[in-house]
Amino acid sequence: MTGTRTYGYTNTLDAGHYAKALRADIRGGLTSIPKSTAPTWFYDARGSELFEEITQLEEYPLWRAELGLFTLHAHDIAARTGARSLVELGSGSSTKTKLILEALGPNGLHYVPVDVSEDALHQASAQLVQDYPRLVLHALRADFTAPFVLPELPADSPRLIAFIGSTLGNFRRPARVPFLRELRDVMRPQDFLLLGADLVKDTEEMILAYDDGDGVTAAFDKNLLHVLNRELRADFDPDAFEHRAVWSEAEQHIEMRLRSRADQQVKIRELDLTVHFDRGEEWITERSAKFTTDGLRTELNAAGLHADQVWEDSGAGFCVVLATPRQGVLRK
Ligand code: AVJ
Repeated sequence: MTGTRTYGYTNTLDAGHYAKALRADIRGGLTSIPKSTAPTWFYDARGSELFEEITQLEEYPLWRAELGLFTLHAHDIAARTGARSLVELGSGSSTKTKLILEALGPNGLHYVPVDVSEDALHQASAQLVQDYPRLVLHALRADFTAPFVLPELPADSPRLIAFIGSTLGNFRRPARVPFLRELRDVMRPQDFLLLGADLVKDTEEMILAYDDGDGVTAAFDKNLLHVLNRELRADFDPDAFEHRAVWSEAEQHIEMRLRSRADQQVKIRELDLTVHFDRGEEWITERSAKFTTDGLRTELNAAGLHADQVWEDSGAGFCVVLATPRQGVLRK
């Protein structure tokens, strides 16, 4: 075989770490009122695949809207940043990122995709090093909601940290500024943050994006049950739950929920836990916040960042922001 390219790979989520975090979140989340768990656990191989399917749905325009913004502005982003390394949090398939890589010039560029899905990382990395033989790629399997260490990057050139796809929306409002502040604290004055965020729009449209007609999002939501059955030896019956998407006006987010169709007990053997669900009880499996451009500017500001540039797709209601550390703001 010729032409096999390699890339670096670091797994910070060794089996022990992953199992521990999963157990803590599921135990805590399923013994709270209302029941609520982190979206991190959706992304096993099947979940990553289902998410890729979601991005292609008519009802889920955000993915295409961001792709459109990158198509229009990737060269401007490259010119403004002059970045020679790109770190992407929640990289998934890295499909949209290719536009940024190409605009930056992939030869000799350092790219660090960070994701919890080992499968997604390997698939994306293998493809990227084939497409761009002189890209320096180091994949990092990590949970970006917890502290992690970046592989070595060129010290002397600007870095671009990409946090796109509106993944920021998975943080609730009170957690967002502290998270952005942590990012800012690892950025140097010459670095940039590229943020993609879905904007508040018509309620029906927002709900449909999380409850499509073909049931792909329902399958994605219920994949969590398969993950828990496998990883925690639980006995969830996916047919005993119904997928729902609800807009919270107060929180400005979409909630994905699994609604119990019956009064039922579920055993989670690895946790030595039996969980009771009332008939009609709803378990929040994901929160996906929607933004306004003004709100984003304010949150960035509070985190010690400044939105230098905001590109908006007003039709689809999506924006991409390029931000820099504000000077004169003290580091923690
Ligand atoms: C990957 C978190 C941005 O919230 O829109 C899509 C995940 N969940 N459909 C989102 C998701 C259901 C997605 N993010």
